[in-house]
Parts: sequence; structure tokens; C-alpha cells
Amino acid sequence: MTVLVHGGNIARAAHMYGRPVDDWIDVSTGINVHSYPIPELSAHVWQRLPYPDEQFIAAAFAYYQSRNILLTAGSQPILECLPQALGELGNRQAVLIPDIGYQEHRHAWQGHTQVVDYNGLIDDSEAITKGLAEQDIGHLLVINPNNPTGIRYSVEQIYAWAAQLASKQGFVVVDEAFIDCQPEQSCITPNMPSNVLVIRSFGKFFGLAGIRLGALIAMPTILEYLANQMGIWRVNGPAQAVSTAAFNDRQWQQQMRAQLANQQAQQRQIWQPVLHALGARIQADTALFRSFTMPAELAQEVHQKAAMQGILTRPVDIDGQTSLLRMGNIDITNQSHLQRCNQWLQSLT
Ligand SMILES: Cc1ncc(COP(=O)(O)O)c(C=O)c1O
Repeated sequence: MTVLVHGGNIARAAHMYGRPVDDWIDVSTGINVHSYPIPELSAHVWQRLPYPDEQFIAAAFAYYQSRNILLTAGSQPILECLPQALGELGNRQAVLIPDIGYQEHRHAWQGHTQVVDYNGLIDDSEAITKGLAEQDIGHLLVINPNNPTGIRYSVEQIYAWAAQLASKQGFVVVDEAFIDCQPEQSCITPNMPSNVLVIRSFGKFFGLAGIRLGALIAMPTILEYLANQMGIWRVNGPAQAVSTAAFNDRQWQQQMRAQLANQQAQQRQIWQPVLHALGARIQADTALFRSFTMPAELAQEVHQKAAMQGILTRPVDIDGQTSLLRMGNIDITNQSHLQRCNQWLQSLT
């Protein structure tokens, strides 16, 4: 089994660089550093078997604005199971996916059908439309916005691709792991075509990746198929209780969206001047992460030097020669973190 490398592996970095786990500044993920405050939990959420709680289900329906939902332990199991399900329920033709993007999708599809790439670094709408029409393509994957390239497509465009695939029993899978900062850009609408499937991740915006919660919004046949595959007790009791509070807390959500939007330029400015001076170019600028394109050796050097200072960054290889360096947010109210990042950046110039 291939294990892909991801950001956020502080334990590994601590081991590699001989620095205690608690002494790292982690900018290697796009997980919100201001996580939803964990409410006090009653003992029974730990003690009882986690049958889906009515309030949890109602809160998820309201937050995702759909009743056609499957709730799972993170969005990862959904994307792992979907290729097989769509092969059974749709067609077994090739899937069109972004060459750069969350690589677990590629990994999941590869065992099931042929994978054809489109360019994940640019708005590749024209090539996608052409590919769906001309090639032997059955399904399309869109990561919206793309992690780590930041590219996004409009809901209208995605629905148009779904219309193109409908006659082939093909599906458009839309991974909206990072859409919660701009929910108005979500493909979940009352008019969502039945061959659009939306994957959502609770962990990013709410900053609680560890509780493992994800959602699939899709037509009932697909939800039933996957529910059977994944079995019962998919979401543990504490995750249900914490997310119920978070889904219902509209005030926290609005305030957090505003805070992240207000800080976006400041977060970018921490890195941009020095990385630009070194020859890097900004590729992605989102509320929870930004990515800079640079020569692969430079990305490695910057990554290594950061790690020596206890700052974990995430280089993503593009073509062996070029890399993206993705930087998540830091807590800008934490002066010592800011200072440490600034010191490290100055040491690069
Ligand atoms: C684009 C994207 N989709 C899905 C996931 C899986 O997230 P989770 O399983 O925590 O919901 C990730 C994780 O980083 C991601 O970046």
C-alpha cells in the first residue's frame, strides 16, 4: 500500500529535526488555527455506541443545506470509496482529474479506472469541456478551491460539466474541503444536478481535523451504496456532540469568516515580500492557505531552513523542477510565533 505524504505530521518532523512536538509552528496544513472551542461533553457521548443523534443530523442538514447527506469519519473515507461506487452505479470510463491537487483522489481512482489529467495550476475550463466531449471520459473531479493551487470554478461551470456527462451516466465529484469560508460558492444548491456529488470536510474551517468528520451530499442511491460499504457507527460520539454545537453556532461561523477574510492579506504579507525577493511567485491566495511557486531546490532549501527553526512548511512537487510551497495561517496574535517566522525569513535574505 502506498502511503502519501501530507502536511501536519509534527511527530515526524520532531523526530527528524530533534525538536519537541510542542515547540513547532505548523504552517504545513490549511487547518484553521483558531479552532471551534470544544464544549463540555456529557459522559454518555463517550460511553454509548454512536448511533446518529437526531440533533446532530438536524444540525448537519441545516449547515450543509441539504437532507441528502452521508456523514463519515472525515472526508477521506468518502473519496477513497467513491471510485468503486461510481464504477458500479455510473460508468467505468476514465476520470479527468487535476494534475496538481490533493493526491489522495488520484490514489483512490487509480485502482479502479484510467486517470486522465487536466492542468490544476490554471483555469483549465476550455480543456476540461473539450476533454469531456471528445475523450472517453466518464467522470470529472474538481477540487474547489484546489488545494494547493487555489484554482476555483464557478457553480454554473461545474453544473455545465455535469450536463455534459449526464448522458454517459457520468458524475462530477466536487471536493469542497476548503469552501466553508465562502459557502455562497458551494455547489450545494436546490438545483444541484443529480450527477453532482459534493464532498465536505469539517476539520478545515472549524479547525478540528482530529475529530474526523466529513460529509457527502449526493443522490440517495449513492449515499445508500456508500453507507452499506462503510457500515454502522461512522461518526464517533464526541465528534457528533462537538460538531452539533459548531454547526448550530452561526455567530461563531460568521465572526470566523470575517476574521479570516480580514486577515488574509496580512497572512500573505508575512511570506510574500521575502519569497518574492527570492524569485518565488504567488500561485494561491485563500483564507486558510497560500502557495508560492519556486524552483524545487529553493523550496527544499526554504523548507529545510524553516524546519531547523521549528517551522513546518509543505513543499509540493510540480514537475521535478518546480515546487509549490504552501503556507497555512499562523496565529498573528501570537507575537513570539510572528517573531520566529520573521527571524527565519530575514535569515533567508
Ligand atoms: C482537498 C482535500 N480534500 C479532502 C481532505 C481530507 O480531509 P478530512 O479527511 O480531514 O476531511 C483534505 C485533507 O487535507 C484535502 O486537502
